[in-house]
Amino acid sequence: MKYKEEFFEAEKVAREVGIFLADQRTKEIELSVGRDIKLRLDKISEEKIIDYLSAMFDHGFLAEEGGLIGKAKKDKPYWIVDPIDGTLNFSRDFQMCCVSIALWKDHMPIFGVIYDFNNKDLFKGYVGENSFLNNKLLRYSNNNEIHQSIVATGIPSQIDLTDEVIGDFTEVLRSYKKVRMIGSAALSIAYVASGKFDTYLENGIKIWDVAAGVAILSALGVKYEIEMMSDDSVFLKAGNF
Ligand code: IPD
Ligand code: CA
Repeated sequence: MKYKEEFFEAEKVAREVGIFLADQRTKEIELSVGRDIKLRLDKISEEKIIDYLSAMFDHGFLAEEGGLIGKAKKDKPYWIVDPIDGTLNFSRDFQMCCVSIALWKDHMPIFGVIYDFNNKDLFKGYVGENSFLNNKLLRYSNNNEIHQSIVATGIPSQIDLTDEVIGDFTEVLRSYKKVRMIGSAALSIAYVASGKFDTYLENGIKIWDVAAGVAILSALGVKYEIEMMSDDSVFLKAGNF
C-alpha cells in the first residue's frame, strides 16, 4: 500500500470532521441558487480537512467549495474532497449525508473514505486491496437481473431539467424494480458497495460527490463506467446496469 499513511489520515480527518458536523445545531444557509444550497458548515468543514491533510502531505486538492487548491497536477496524486455530501439533507436533519475524501491519480482512484457520521459508519476502500464498512469486508449484491434490481440515482443540482433528461429518467423508472433518490451520491454508492442497492447511475454528478465511492467500488471489484466531462461533472454507472 503505497499511500498507507494518507489512507490512515484521511480516515482520521473524515471521522473528526464527521463528529464535528454531528454536533452542530445551527445550519445556516449561506447561499441558495437554483436547486443547490451552500452552508457555512460546508466551507468550515472543508477548511478543516484541507488544513489537516496539507499540514502532513504536499498533494494538491480538488475540493467542492474551493476548487483546485495547491499542486493538483494530473500526473501526481491529488485529494478529492466533499466535506458534506447531501448538504440539503444535512440542513434538514435528514440523516443521508456524509464526509467524502478520496485520493486519485491520472483520473484513476487510489482510495476512498466515506464517513456516515449519523450512523457512525465508515466505508473505505484501497484499490488493489479491498473495501470495508467499519473494518468488516463489504459484500455487494450479485443480482444481475435489471428488472429485479434497486437503482439509486439523483438529479444533479446544476443540470437543466430538459425533456431529454426527464426522458432518460423515465427509462430508468421503467427498467428497474425500484428507484431510490436519497440525496447523497456518496452514500448511494456506499450502499451499492454494501448490497443495499444493486445499481447507481447519475449523469452530471460532480466528481467530488462520487470520487471516494468510485474508489470503494473499484477496490471491491464492482463493475462501473465513468465518463468525465470538462466541468468536473461525470456520468457514472455502477453495479448492475
Ligand atoms: C449532492 C448530492 C446529491 C446529488 C446532487 C449533489 P452535495 O451533493 O450528491 O445526491 O443529486 O447533485 O449536489 O451538494 O450535497 O455535496
Ligand atoms: Ca458537498
